[in-house]
Amino acid sequence: MRRSIPLMSALPLLLFVLAAGVVASHPAAAQEDGKALFEKTCQKCHGPDGKADTKAGKKMKVPVWDDSKLEPAHVIENVRTHKKHRTVSKKVSDAELDAIATYVATLMAP
Ligand code: HEC
Repeated sequence: MRRSIPLMSALPLLLFVLAAGVVASHPAAAQEDGKALFEKTCQKCHGPDGKADTKAGKKMKVPVWDDSKLEPAHVIENVRTHKKHRTVSKKVSDAELDAIATYVATLMAP
């Protein structure tokens, strides 16, 4: 039985490493969601890069995004309050919009 002691004492460390791995991989997963949700909900009007170079974007005269204004909080507020976003706002939950806004910020990073 003595032999199993080193293994038992290594177990907490092993669990810690596994847990840390799960925590560390989480932001990447959230970003993936944001990307997928962006493509599904926003890209039609804003294009893949926020330049609005799409059919709907041109038709609705969607402006090119101003990089300096795209902090997540502003994106969220704009989607929730601007009348042009009324339809789209209904389609996304707060958590989804969070992920989208985080993704938008990475999109615009230089
Ligand atoms: C139906 C087309 C449409 C869709 C879909 C759409 N937008 Fe927009 N968006 C617009 C238009 C039009 C404007 C310009 C509004 C204005 O007149 O200021 C705009 C402006 C913005 C701006 C710029 C705000 C600013 O201060 O300059 C942000 C940020 C934005 N949209 C985010 C989003 C996000 C995030 C989504 C997806 C959840 C989304 N939009 C989906 C049409 C759309």
